[in-house]
Amino acid sequence: MTARRFLFCVATLTYLLALTLASAAVTADAQAASASAIALDAQTSAPATPPGYVGTDTCVACHEDQQHGYEAGPHGKTANPRSPAARQGCESCHGPGERHIDDPSNDTTLRKFAKMAPRDVSATCITCHAGGSHAAWQGSPHDTRNLSCVTCHSVHAPRSPSAHLKTNTEVELCATCHRVQANKLKRVSHMPVQEGKLQCSSCHNPHGSTNVKQLRVGNWINESCVSCHTEKRGPFLFEHAAGRESCVSCHDPHGSSNDRLLVAKVPMLCQRCHIGTRHPSTLYDNVAVEAKTVRIIGRGCVNCHSQVHGSNHPSGQALIR
Ligand code: HEC
Ligand code: HEC
Ligand code: HEC
Ligand code: HEC
Ligand code: HEC
Ligand code: HEC
Ligand code: HEC
Ligand code: HEC
Ligand code: HEC
Ligand code: HEC
Repeated sequence: MTARRFLFCVATLTYLLALTLASAAVTADAQAASASAIALDAQTSAPATPPGYVGTDTCVACHEDQQHGYEAGPHGKTANPRSPAARQGCESCHGPGERHIDDPSNDTTLRKFAKMAPRDVSATCITCHAGGSHAAWQGSPHDTRNLSCVTCHSVHAPRSPSAHLKTNTEVELCATCHRVQANKLKRVSHMPVQEGKLQCSSCHNPHGSTNVKQLRVGNWINESCVSCHTEKRGPFLFEHAAGRESCVSCHDPHGSSNDRLLVAKVPMLCQRCHIGTRHPSTLYDNVAVEAKTVRIIGRGCVNCHSQVHGSNHPSGQALIR
């Protein structure tokens, strides 16, 4: 063996040895890490009581009334690792209770939600509810107008069958502030909310959204409408510019006294925009009103212009087929 080859062998061996040592160290690290992960897991499933906290059992000794609503809902279910019950129980929301027990009438030792500013109440809830459909809460119209989570929800005494609402139904809740919209739903032509097919929240997200008017879906009004009325999405060979612009130019999304939620009767609806066309479209065709004209009676202009939302017929440019 030449000296050179010997040196090469030594170098290789040293290198291999170093590698083995390094990987052993890595394994040890990993073991330590997984051990501490197990310790953490153990902690979340059976929470140790940190200093200052007294535990749910102590709270309910004096506040039995609040226990019922809490345990009946998802907050009281230990099976869900994200729930208050799987963490510090009552104190996940109210904060550590030791000082409260010493002096219950002191308002600063514990979170007493009824006595807190709306924004501070919401801040407590969004420690857990900041994702998904709640992501746009901060800065939303309801947030900025000083509503808080507990304006609409009650943790301890909810009245709705789901979602912990303060009222029996959702419409009742919204109607306390939005009477106009709730009443429109009772007009002769209306979205089927009272029939139970839709809720205000089918279209709106009361927790805020990226669309206008807190609409749940899309980035402009039409995207919201066509998320249900897909056949109106197009694309059309011949579009009706009015429909492209906005469905609510012609329809009231809540309800109206005209057929099909229209904001005005046909032909007056069409005449808001079409005053002079190749065939005179006003009521005053020949100087006098021609009561018998098909442009006025029944469905008026849509007797002929039936494809008012857009046409895919090769000669549908006048939206008649
Ligand atoms: C020794 C009995 C006792 C214990 C234990 C106790 N509290 Fe209280 N708590 C009281 C009393 C009494 C009041 C009413 C104080 C007042 O308003 O003068 C009160 C008030 C409250 C209020 C405010 C009620 C309101 O009307 O705004 C909250 C919230 C509350 N307690 C939560 C808790 C929580 C959470 C725990 C457990 C950490 C707890 N309490 C443990 C006796 C107790
Ligand atoms: C998810 C957060 C949350 C948890 C968990 C929670 N609370 Fe509350 N608590 C509230 C809110 C919010 C209010 C304000 C009234 C309401 O929404 O019902 C409140 C109000 C209270 C009040 C004032 C009286 C009342 O009903 O308004 C007491 C007392 C109270 N809680 C005790 C408790 C006790 C005891 C527990 C545990 C069994 C508990 N809370 C768990 C959020 C919570
Ligand atoms: C420690 C975390 C935590 C906090 C704090 C918390 N929640 Fe929850 N909440 C949950 C979990 C977990 C659920 C079960 C649903 C889920 O997994 O998202 C839930 C469910 C709900 C529901 C749905 C109820 C249902 O029947 O479907 C409402 C409403 C709610 N929370 C409101 C609140 C309000 C209001 C506050 C603040 C006063 C609050 N939460 C604070 C964890 C929390
Ligand atoms: C204007 C009334 C209103 C306000 C304010 C409000 N909510 Fe709601 N919330 C509702 C209604 C209505 C529902 C049921 C329909 C739905 O799911 O959107 C609901 C559903 C929920 C649900 C269960 C369904 C889901 O989306 O996960 C949770 C959790 C919830 N709200 C938490 C909160 C929290 C946290 C806040 C404060 C940041 C808050 N809410 C503020 C009206 C409100
Ligand atoms: C079919 C979908 C739909 C339903 C269901 C619905 N809305 Fe709306 N809402 C809309 C649309 C679209 C707009 C925007 C209209 C516009 O800009 O002219 C709107 C606007 C609003 C506005 C703002 C009005 C304004 O002039 O700024 C309020 C408040 C409102 N809705 C409340 C409600 C309430 C409360 C309910 C339930 C009683 C409800 N909505 C049910 C689609 C709906
Ligand atoms: C406590 C009163 C209150 C309740 C309850 C309430 N809102 Fe509102 N809402 C408001 C206020 C205040 C505004 C802001 C109005 C403004 O800026 O002109 C608003 C605005 C809105 C808007 C228009 C947003 C915009 O961009 O102009 C919609 C849509 C809406 N609310 C839907 C709902 C729905 C759906 C419910 C029921 C789940 C509900 N609200 C419950 C007070 C309330
Ligand atoms: C969440 C789903 C949903 C959304 C979003 C929605 N609608 Fe509707 N719409 C319905 C349902 C369901 C009906 C009732 C259909 C029935 O009874 O056959 C309806 C009925 C209608 C009607 C009356 C149809 C008739 O035959 O009388 C019109 C017009 C209408 N919607 C327009 C709109 C407009 C405009 C928008 C957007 C502002 C919109 N819709 C958004 C679900 C929706
Ligand atoms: C230029 C006015 C106008 C615009 C804009 C408009 N509509 Fe209509 N819509 C009408 C008229 C008029 C009727 C009644 C047609 C009839 O009686 O045959 C109607 C009927 C409907 C109907 C019920 C009948 C059917 O065809 O299924 C729905 C649903 C509807 N529109 C949804 C929408 C949606 C979604 C949009 C936005 C993409 C929209 N409309 C835009 C005028 C309009
Ligand atoms: C909000 C305004 C508005 C309303 C309401 C409206 N339209 Fe239109 N309509 C337009 C615009 C803008 C055009 C595009 C005109 C152009 O391209 O020169 C158009 C185009 C048309 C065309 C095709 C004309 C062509 O030569 O391309 C017809 C047909 C038509 N509308 C019928 C109707 C009928 C029927 C109604 C009532 C149900 C109606 N429109 C309501 C704005 C409106
Ligand atoms: C009896 C059937 C009929 C009725 C009713 C009718 N139209 Fe027309 N309309 C037509 C036909 C056919 C054309 C195509 C004319 C052409 O291409 O030369 C047309 C064309 C149009 C155009 C496009 C022509 C232009 O000026 O560029 C508009 C806009 C229009 N109609 C609006 C209306 C309005 C608004 C009403 C209701 C007041 C109405 N129409 C009622 C049959 C009708």
